[in-house]
Amino acid sequence: MDKEIFYLTTPIYYVNDIPHIGHSYTTIAADTLARYKRMRGYDVFFLTGTDEHGQKIEKAAKVNNEDPVELADRVVDRYKNLWQTLDITNDDFIRTTENRHVEQVQNAFKKMYENGDIYLGEYEGWYCIPCESFWTSAQLSLNNCPECGRSVEKIREKNYFFRLSKYQNLLIEYFEKHPDFVKPESRRNELFRRLEGGIDDISVSRAAVEWGVNVPMDNTHTIYVWVDALFNYITALGFDVSGTRKKYWPARVHIIGKEILWFHGVIWPAMLMSLGIEVPHQVFAHGWWTLEGKKISKSLGNAIDPVEITKTYGVDPYRYFLLREVPFGLDGNFSYEAMVNRINCDLGNDLGNLLHRTLTMIEKYCDGIVPEHEGPLSTEGKGLAERSKVLCDEVDHAMNNLQFSKALESIWEYIGLVNKYVEISKPWVLAKELSTKNRLNEVLYNLAESIRVVSLFVLPFMPNVAAEMSKQLGLSSDDKSSGNNFTWGGMRPGTRVCKGSPVFPRFEYSVEN
Ligand code: ME8
Ligand code: MG
Repeated sequence: MDKEIFYLTTPIYYVNDIPHIGHSYTTIAADTLARYKRMRGYDVFFLTGTDEHGQKIEKAAKVNNEDPVELADRVVDRYKNLWQTLDITNDDFIRTTENRHVEQVQNAFKKMYENGDIYLGEYEGWYCIPCESFWTSAQLSLNNCPECGRSVEKIREKNYFFRLSKYQNLLIEYFEKHPDFVKPESRRNELFRRLEGGIDDISVSRAAVEWGVNVPMDNTHTIYVWVDALFNYITALGFDVSGTRKKYWPARVHIIGKEILWFHGVIWPAMLMSLGIEVPHQVFAHGWWTLEGKKISKSLGNAIDPVEITKTYGVDPYRYFLLREVPFGLDGNFSYEAMVNRINCDLGNDLGNLLHRTLTMIEKYCDGIVPEHEGPLSTEGKGLAERSKVLCDEVDHAMNNLQFSKALESIWEYIGLVNKYVEISKPWVLAKELSTKNRLNEVLYNLAESIRVVSLFVLPFMPNVAAEMSKQLGLSSDDKSSGNNFTWGGMRPGTRVCKGSPVFPRFEYSVEN
């Protein structure tokens, strides 16, 4: 049977600025989902990349006295290195300056021109360079960009326009028929109201911007950077060229930050409709991180490099913290204090100690061999086994709805239960009498098996921790490749465990952080 397809994307990030926590957040979330879906047997394609054209990059390059290409090459390396550091498993990395992209964007533009959806007109209004957005006077807020609050510049030029207004009713219909198209629901409703309020045709070219893809039938214009950028989601699949990647379309989910929802939820589907291409299943707009209460930005000088954070705290704890601390969709605040707390409590105490004490007991009481027991499971043992089945469904439901923190909550609830099981069963007491040997064996087996199951659940979030756990549990790579074996009983009695040092070091929080 063919595997089910699952195509997911992150935004392609601008190369005017180096990556910070916010960028890493979206990509870590997407990676976690991609890993989870792969474990579940899906044929996953996971795309990320960089957005390299437009006025903002042109301007940033000029400030640096650099060629835009040089700037892009330099910053692209920063992104690629960061994704490597964070163990991101993207299947491709697209740059909008690549030929494969440029050619297909031009083709798409030409098709929309030929079918009458793109026409030449005159634009007069405002432009925000940081957001690469056009605004009307009425939309401005205190004469500034309503999105980022920065100053805008007046522009008046001949532009090509896209007949967005023509798609208003089709979009409304699409939203109504597909209630899950935009998530979370509150953002969907906000967007829908704006859509119902009426939409104007939009400018899709710039005469004053050189650093971009040329309009195919008029090289005095470059294609508006947002049009150029949105098409990455299909140019990376070689959509226009053929090839095996075509099967991945439509995307299952575009994961983005909330500030770019209008482009993804309205403009993108309208252009796809114009081209007769299927619309993606879902756009998920998550919230924003602040750092110690302040917006993260280069101008505030607080855009710390995630690589630096992971050097001190480790990659997996960083991935865990971002996805555990804040429900996906809401805004959150990054603080070292909160991260240190999570590492010490959730990871060190709850998970780390469970592993360590279990392996210590298996070594002490069973010579390091996962024991076999006779007879049926006791009530508590059965409870653990059954709860692991429920957990499987809970996690699956949460992951399918991109509720990462909820999935982790369920996993940690289970870990809590297993820790309680240790306290109730008291293996150290059972070990004192020969008559309770079988009972001891059952308890230790159940503990090892619970931890094996937990290691599978944490894998998409913390791939290195999961690998270390299964190594310490003595699971062979064979056991790991059957890594989607969530069913109770996968641990083979007779397995030799291999206790290592504690998986999570403890941290002290100090104000100098
Ligand atoms: O908008 N909190 O690129 P960009 C959470 N090139 N997420 C954040 C964040 C924060 N403080 N800061 C950034 C662009 N992000 C366009 C996209 S897509 C066809 C083109 C994340 O470099 C979040 O995903 O400004 C946000 O949408 C994205 O980075 C913006 O990155
Ligand atoms: Mg931005």
